[in-house]
Amino acid sequence: MTNQQSASPQRPPVTVVGLGPMGLALAETLWDRGHTTTVWNRTPDKADSLVAKGVHRTESVAEAVSASPVTIMCLKDYETMYEVFDFAGDAAKGRVLVNLNSGTPKEARRAAGWAAERGFSYLDGAIMVPPPLVGHPESVFLYSGPQDVFDEHRTTLASMGDPRYLGSEPGRAVLYNTALLEIMYATMNGYLHATAMVGSAGISAVEFAELAVGWFMPTVLGPMLADDAPDLDNGNYPGDLGTLEMNLNALEHITRTAEEQGVHTDQPRLMLEIASRAIADGHGGSNYLAVFEVFKKATQAP
Ligand SMILES: NC(=O)c1ccc[n+]([C@@H]2O[C@H](COP(=O)([O-])OP(=O)(O)OC[C@H]3O[C@@H](n4cnc5c(N)ncnc54)[C@H](OP(=O)(O)O)[C@@H]3O)[C@@H](O)[C@H]2O)c1
Repeated sequence: MTNQQSASPQRPPVTVVGLGPMGLALAETLWDRGHTTTVWNRTPDKADSLVAKGVHRTESVAEAVSASPVTIMCLKDYETMYEVFDFAGDAAKGRVLVNLNSGTPKEARRAAGWAAERGFSYLDGAIMVPPPLVGHPESVFLYSGPQDVFDEHRTTLASMGDPRYLGSEPGRAVLYNTALLEIMYATMNGYLHATAMVGSAGISAVEFAELAVGWFMPTVLGPMLADDAPDLDNGNYPGDLGTLEMNLNALEHITRTAEEQGVHTDQPRLMLEIASRAIADGHGGSNYLAVFEVFKKATQAP
């Protein structure tokens, strides 16, 4: 690991608050792209690898927010953001906060009101790729909120991926996010359930993926599931880049968004129930593929 930034020209300072797998990827990418980067996390040790590169770690969230004109928040959810910002006092006043945790449109609108009351600009956003794809020019990041704020900081946001502006209505980015994630989870569940079904006849996930992925899967999810097939066969679901607990949050957001928007909730509820069952079976720290363990078992009589 190097403590030298790449040859990129110096870019505006940025703060990242929240260093789960996603926040770590964002902070590392911003640093590598030439932004002077400051970080804060509840568990400070998670910044050790960033500090070794030259990233600045602060002891308080107020100090972190004060260090840059723009703070990127990547915490578990909106409630965590409010909890963390209770300690920031007036530090954010006159600055820009970009919130990238997932949630529901109502939560995003409430957060925009909360920011306005405290005197800082607020963009709500969502990340449409897993941590290893942060920084790729085609990796989609969704944003909604004031257009002038988005335009002013577009170049900084482009350091993390492809910034797509969806309009001034603050809930629009998370609405798109939950809609796109619903496609992903429904597709993943169909694939995992089908793999469990052929698995009951002794066909391995690798063998099935070779045919199934080429037959149906589109370009992004297909290659990912083909790479994951050996892990399905080995029951290996490492959660280091995102846990089933984190995915449960996303499934809850899809269910609550369906409620908020006044559409049918049975399908998201079922996906939520299946993921909850996998967590109850001890897979909360595993990645999403651990729902395969639920699909491999016969349904228990109620
Ligand atoms: N990972 C992915 O593949 C992925 C993809 C797209 C979007 N996202 C979104 O990105 C956001 C972050 O996800 P993630 O995978 O990085 O991990 P996560 O488990 O959802 O969030 C972890 C972060 O939240 C902090 N946190 C949780 N409870 C806290 C509390 N009570 N007080 C202070 N901090 C608290 C953690 O601090 P500690 O380190 O101290 O626990 C850590 O910084 C989520 O909204 C997720 O939906 C993730």
